[in-house]
Amino acid sequence: MKKILVFAMITLFALTFAGGVFANGQQDSGKAATSGNKLAVGIVLPTKDEPRWLQDEARFKEALDKAGYSVEILFSQGDSAKERANVESLVAKGIQVLVITPQDGAAAAAAADYAHNAGVKVISYDRLITNTKSVDYYVTFDSFSVGKAFGQYLVDKASGTGNNLYLYAGAASDNNAFIFFDGAWNVLQPKVADGTFVIKNSSAAVELSGKNKLSRAELGKIIGQVTTNWDFNVAKNLAESNLTKASKADKGVVYIEAPNDGTARAIADAFGADKDVSKYYVTGQDAEKASVQYIIDGKQSMTVFKDVRTLVKDAIGAAVTFLEGNTPEATGYYDNGAMKVPAKQTEVITVTKDNVKSVLIDSGYYKASDFTGL
Ligand code: BGC
Repeated sequence: MKKILVFAMITLFALTFAGGVFANGQQDSGKAATSGNKLAVGIVLPTKDEPRWLQDEARFKEALDKAGYSVEILFSQGDSAKERANVESLVAKGIQVLVITPQDGAAAAAAADYAHNAGVKVISYDRLITNTKSVDYYVTFDSFSVGKAFGQYLVDKASGTGNNLYLYAGAASDNNAFIFFDGAWNVLQPKVADGTFVIKNSSAAVELSGKNKLSRAELGKIIGQVTTNWDFNVAKNLAESNLTKASKADKGVVYIEAPNDGTARAIADAFGADKDVSKYYVTGQDAEKASVQYIIDGKQSMTVFKDVRTLVKDAIGAAVTFLEGNTPEATGYYDNGAMKVPAKQTEVITVTKDNVKSVLIDSGYYKASDFTGL
């Protein structure tokens, strides 16, 4: 239900839209993000404890400095109450646009309502705020494709039948976690049904393995058994407890669907430390520097690169459009349970040892000097 309805002509829109934004941002230096002495845009990110969101902070700062804007970026540290306090403080400072990645999509509805009722435009950034009509716009990556990339990677590496498959998911409070899992399931389920893979760590997934399109409740059942809560320690403990229960035959060569880079490294370390695991393949996303190094070192198999610069550009572009009294273009809609939120979606790229240099270094996203053994 919470999925994209239409995503047509995405490139065309992306080009037209992004072009307009930058021309505007650069000419209007300093004005659009502040009105008088007041702060016009506030940004709230979920936590400093995950490199993913520090990447977003850094890219926001870079883009805003370049365009001459000053905005305030606050972190909620995994706490919806702190998130609400952050929103209230930004609204009190007079922001007209709020860019927010909710810690918990449903819990953030009240904060979005609060801002919206104060006349503030609310832009959901990367994660969707659910069950409220107070979301004006959503900038996101193509999360279903992220999950599909996990599944496809593992399928491409497997041959024969009876391959050991371990599934892990993100936090159930994050709408994205459902979409990632749904995307991965879309590709993996037929390969479970035909015997290529055997799921080792979720009885719910085994029970549902005859069905390709799962309901939200069904996805929730599996996620409930294999959630990492996006937390490295939870991921490590869960992987270790799965390995403790697994027999020697459930180990050997294993295929692991891990939901993001931070949890992938934790899970990979746990599997790598088990003497009965002879080889593991593990997925991830975000292209965090530590995972890029893991990929170079052969300790993580792949990551899905989500170019945060594009999301930042889209968020700033939408904010500026709102400040000018206009409505940003949408390339599709996401149903958040209460409304269809106009959205702009960005494509993603699978990165492995084979293309890590060309995609992440040669493109200028990261410096070669940040890594060893490239
Ligand atoms: C984001 C991922 C991130 C995860 C954990 C998701 O909503 O899309 O990029 O790894 O949250 O923070």
